[in-house]
Amino acid sequence: MELLKKKMIEEGAVLSNHVLKVDSFLNHGVDPVLMDAVGKEFAKRFKDQAITKVLTIESSGIAPGLMAALTLGVPMVFARKRRSLTQSEDLVTAKVYSFTKQEENTISVSGKYIHGGDNILIIDDFLANGQAALGLVELAEKAGANIAGIGIVIEKSFQDGGRLLREKGFRVESLAEIESLEDGIISFKQSKAEEAAHS
Ligand code: G4P
Repeated sequence: MELLKKKMIEEGAVLSNHVLKVDSFLNHGVDPVLMDAVGKEFAKRFKDQAITKVLTIESSGIAPGLMAALTLGVPMVFARKRRSLTQSEDLVTAKVYSFTKQEENTISVSGKYIHGGDNILIIDDFLANGQAALGLVELAEKAGANIAGIGIVIEKSFQDGGRLLREKGFRVESLAEIESLEDGIISFKQSKAEEAAHS
């Protein structure tokens, strides 16, 4: 997705060989025009899948998840990383280990908002080691829902998450794929369509 890549190049900061900071438009400040385009792109890619709900995780998954849900015309629900005061009965939970933060969190969603019969599109901002996405898969499966696919705004292809999820048979659609962040430069992986256009 060219608009996203342009934004990443213009405003992203490569913090190390593994981390790209995109606080101005995705992880802290949020660009509504870009999020609208991101939501429309996810909706286009999954339009034939009869999605009934978008599932994401707080906090940075909410903006792209909401815009995808809006375009698809379905509700969105986000998994919580901390239990809220009002969240009590009927909780579905999964454990998520973050390699980056070296800590385990229990994520949860109310069984009132996802159930058997739902056809879920999982959305998240970053795909690194895939632990958050796998946690969302577990939540949806425990609630008895089907997973139609996983939409990621930025995938870091040099980490294992994408491979893990695809090996499990999930359809993963990433709007920008980073092949490398070495030497402070964002190198994008070409999509299949781009490869075909250049061959
Ligand atoms: P994983 O879920 O793919 O295994 O990722 P990991 O545990 O490594 O990532 C932990 C947090 O760091 C996640 O956000 C994830 O989105 C974010 N993250 C991973 N790699 C990058 C990166 O290169 N750049 C940025 N900006 N973020 C990255 P989180 O802590 O859940 O944050 P938030 O959703 O509350 O904003």
